[in-house]
Amino acid sequence: MDQIIVRGNGPLKGEIPIAGAKNACLTLMPATLLTDQPLTLTNAPRLSDIRTMTELLRSLGAEVASLQEGQVLALSSHDLNNHTADYDIVRKMRASILVLGPMLARDGHAIVSLPGGCAIGARPVDLHLRALEAMGADLDLRDGYVHAKAPAGGLKGAVVDFPIVSVGATENALMAATLARGTTVIKNAAREPEIVDLAQCLRRMGAHIEGEGTSTITIEGVQALHGATHPVVTDRIELGTYMLAPAICGGEVECLGGRIDLVAAFCEKLDEAGVSVTETDRGLKVSRKNGPVQAVNVVTEPFPGFPTDLQAQMMALLCTAEGSSVLEEKIFENRFMHAPELIRMGARIEVHGGHATVHGVKKLRGAPVMATDLRASVSLILAGLAAEGETIVSRVYHLDRGYEKVVRKLRGVGADIERIKGPQIDE
Ligand code: EPZ
Repeated sequence: MDQIIVRGNGPLKGEIPIAGAKNACLTLMPATLLTDQPLTLTNAPRLSDIRTMTELLRSLGAEVASLQEGQVLALSSHDLNNHTADYDIVRKMRASILVLGPMLARDGHAIVSLPGGCAIGARPVDLHLRALEAMGADLDLRDGYVHAKAPAGGLKGAVVDFPIVSVGATENALMAATLARGTTVIKNAAREPEIVDLAQCLRRMGAHIEGEGTSTITIEGVQALHGATHPVVTDRIELGTYMLAPAICGGEVECLGGRIDLVAAFCEKLDEAGVSVTETDRGLKVSRKNGPVQAVNVVTEPFPGFPTDLQAQMMALLCTAEGSSVLEEKIFENRFMHAPELIRMGARIEVHGGHATVHGVKKLRGAPVMATDLRASVSLILAGLAAEGETIVSRVYHLDRGYEKVVRKLRGVGADIERIKGPQIDE
C-alpha cells in the first residue's frame, strides 16, 4: 500500500483547480439506467469510486466509455442484460445502492446487494426502501440482497415524507419518481448541491421536476426519458479541503472553479476563525488574516449547514488555533477516527460521543499516522503541511476514492509532499 510523506514547508502560494463532485457523479452515473438513450457527463472527476461505479454499471450491461483522460463519461444503458448488483462490487462502495431506484423505475425489477456499513457508521438504507415501497414497489430482503419488483403498471407517484434528511434516499426517490405514473412529492428532501445537480441533469433528460434545493421536491412522472449531456457540478468538499491548506500553513491560494454558494456555511466558520475568503472571477482566493487562527465551534448538519464531509479537515485547522473549539458531529455516529491520529501529532483533543473538544497547541509535530476513511486521510495531510518534521500517512487508498492528484495539486502551491509506492496487496 502506498504512503504519502508530508513535510512542513511554510506558507503556500498559487492556484489549485477543483474537480467535478464525486458525490454528484456517483448519482448522475446511475441516471443512465433511466433511459436507453446516451448520457454524457463532462467535468467528471478521476477517482477510484468512479471506476467502481463504472464497473457496476458495466456488470448490468451498460456501456461506459471514459474519454478525455476520464473527464468525460459516455454512458448508455440501451442493452441492459442483468438486473443484479453483486455484493462483491457493492461492498466496495455504498453508493452502489443508487442503481436500485432507476432500474426499478425503468425495467420494473432489480436485485441489489445491501451495502455494508463502513468505518464512519452503520449506514442503513431503510429510508431508500421506504421511499420505493411508497411508490408501490414490493421489496423482499433475503440473503443480503433487496429483491425489488414494481407493480405491473410500473411505480406510481406518492408522497414520500422522510423522517430524517438523507442525501442518498432523496436521490433514489428522485430518480425513481421521474418515470413513476403520476405525481411524487418528496418531503424533508436533502438540499445538497449534488441533489440540485441531479435534478438539473434529469430535467435535461426530459424529467418534470420542481423544488430541488428546497425541502420539498415535486416530480411529475413521464413515459420515458431521453439522452443528455451534463457537466458535473464542482466538488464542494474538495474545494473546502484545499481552502484549508493556506488557512493552516499561511500564504494565499486560489481555488479555481470554487463557488461561494457551495460552501457558504463553511466560509462563515473560516471567517470567524480569522481566515479570509475572496471571490475572484476564477474561483475563491483564501488567505489567513493577520494573526493566528481563532478557535470556533462547529456543528455538522445537512446542507445548507456545515458539511459533515469537512468536519475532519476543519479539526486539522483547529488543532493549532488559539483557544478551545468544540466540534459536534450530528450526521454519523463514528466520524472522529482522525482524532487519535492527530493526537499522535501532538494535538490535544478529547472525544466524548458525538463531541470533540480541540485545545489549540502552538505547533503539531510530524509522525507516522494511518488513514481510516476518505475525509480523515486528507485531514492528516492538511495537518502534516504545517507540522514540524515529517508526517507519513499510510493506507492512502482511502484518499484515492475522493481526491484526484492530491500530491500534484499541493506541490503546485509549494507543499513538500510526495507519494511512495508501497507493496501492492489485494484487498
Ligand atoms: C452521502 O452519503 C455522501 N455520499 C456522504 O459522503 C455524506 O457524508 C452524506 O451524504 C451526508 O452528507 C455520497 O453522496 C456518495 P445520508 P449518504 O443518507 O447518502 C442515516 C464522502 O465522504 N440514514 O444523507 O449515505 C445515515 O446513517 C461520503 O464523500 C438512515 O438512517 O448519507 C446518516 O446518519 C461519506 N437510513 C444520515 O442518515 C437511510 O436509509 C445521513 O445519511 C439512509 C441514511
